[in-house]
Amino acid sequence: MTKLPKFIIHKAWPSKPEYDTLCLGITQNSQGKPILPKGPYLGILKRMAEKKLLTGKAGSTHFVRFGAIAGAENLLIVGLGKTDQAEKLRVAGANAHQKLVAEHARSLLIDFGSLAAPKVAHFVEGIVLKHYTFEKHFSEAPSKKKDAHAFETFGIVCAKATLARDIQTRVDRLVEIGRAINITRDWSNEPSNIGTPEYFASEAQALAKEYGLKCKVLNEADAKREKMGLFLGVGQGAEREGRLVVLEYHPKKTSKNTKTIALVGKGVTFDSGGISIKPSLKMEDMKHDMTGAATMMGVSLLAARFKIPHKLITIMAFTENMPDGTAIQPGNILKSRAGKTVEIINTDAEGRLILADALDYIQDLYKPEIVIDAATLTGAVAVALGKICAGLLGNNDSLLKNIQKAGEEMGEKLWPLPTFDEYFEDLKSDVADMKNSANDPYGGTIRGAIFLKQFIHKNTKWAHLDIAATAWGLTHLGYFPKRGASGAHVRTLINYLENYV
Ligand code: BES
Ligand code: MN
Ligand code: ZN
Repeated sequence: MTKLPKFIIHKAWPSKPEYDTLCLGITQNSQGKPILPKGPYLGILKRMAEKKLLTGKAGSTHFVRFGAIAGAENLLIVGLGKTDQAEKLRVAGANAHQKLVAEHARSLLIDFGSLAAPKVAHFVEGIVLKHYTFEKHFSEAPSKKKDAHAFETFGIVCAKATLARDIQTRVDRLVEIGRAINITRDWSNEPSNIGTPEYFASEAQALAKEYGLKCKVLNEADAKREKMGLFLGVGQGAEREGRLVVLEYHPKKTSKNTKTIALVGKGVTFDSGGISIKPSLKMEDMKHDMTGAATMMGVSLLAARFKIPHKLITIMAFTENMPDGTAIQPGNILKSRAGKTVEIINTDAEGRLILADALDYIQDLYKPEIVIDAATLTGAVAVALGKICAGLLGNNDSLLKNIQKAGEEMGEKLWPLPTFDEYFEDLKSDVADMKNSANDPYGGTIRGAIFLKQFIHKNTKWAHLDIAATAWGLTHLGYFPKRGASGAHVRTLINYLENYV
């Protein structure tokens, strides 16, 4: 588990040199000219500006070694631009963090003068989101090696008491968010020899206890009793047993607006494709095929910590998709918990199968008004939308719009795709109620969603996030890890739950 930096708010400049690096923020005026902060550094800043080295462009960084006064060694100058866009401030924070790590700094003290609390917080958000490494499987952690320094402390000087209080509240929240997202990332990055269904079920139990969530784990015998033929079918070819994890959060305070919302996550701990086996190239990435579940875990922890006013039920369906002698085979017919039968055309279209049973179970037991699922469901979503945004599908326009808006505010993009019933034509089977994959290769992401739609109960508002392209390897934003799990869309969903239900 990555340890987040310690954040300390100072009411005045600390007298003793506790920090090795001081940070100054350069904003821009409406014409885009840098505004140089007054103080002991004005001279150096002026010289840099004269040489056109200093523009204040959002996200720019300069590291001046042995340049600081008051005991610290170094000066970090960060461009904050016009400070009118949250996202640019987040990226500025992430860039600052990257620079500090590259320069082997341990601690940073920032003074952004009277910059408003939400703006300072966006910068801190970038720092928090950037602060992640997955090092548990190294014999010696790279950040602990002699020549590498870990970034540990982050101080903020706030002369005004009200500003300091406001920033403190926001920073506390961001630390919680950072911790939850790093749990999502850790889960997603965990290789499948360790990250088994049993492992995630027991991790979930421990975290649920810590955060005050109710947690129930169903094993395969329980799933059999529940007649979850699709979930069990997918796990049939695997040695390791599947698990379904159900989390419950009940708000202390309720009102007439209190709703029951269900989150559903795909948790395929390894997707080999099964008998319809995948090619070897990049197959290792399929350890991430449980990121939907990891995302919903992160969101559920935050919902409990931030005490959202809604009842939240989360179900994570963990299983492995493997091809042994007992594995499901193309042409097999499986019966879902809902009673509908499915002809298996492609054993690699397994996510929709396990989600179908999880969706039916959660709607049946808890009668949620709103159901949101997240799944690394189709490679086709990258073909349709690239790696910049998640696919957003469902049966209720205002729900989808709200989720999209919640994402936009967080710098996390989602883009709608249609779910016209005509798309189901190709999923009709000659021998069962439906097939799990179509004959033609087009509209793969929509087809996945149309399959799920068959298991959405009447009156349930439903949104489906296809996160196959955004779950890992997100390179377009400074604050997501370039390789490995991104942790994207945890912030989107917690923002939705807190502000847009
Ligand atoms: N887990 C994969 C989707 C995936 C592929 C995610 C590549 C990320 C990167 C999913 O289970 C799958 O295999 N989907 C198939 C569906 C097809 C067989 C209808 C796909 O996308 O090819
Ligand atoms: Mn698959
Ligand atoms: Zn899969």
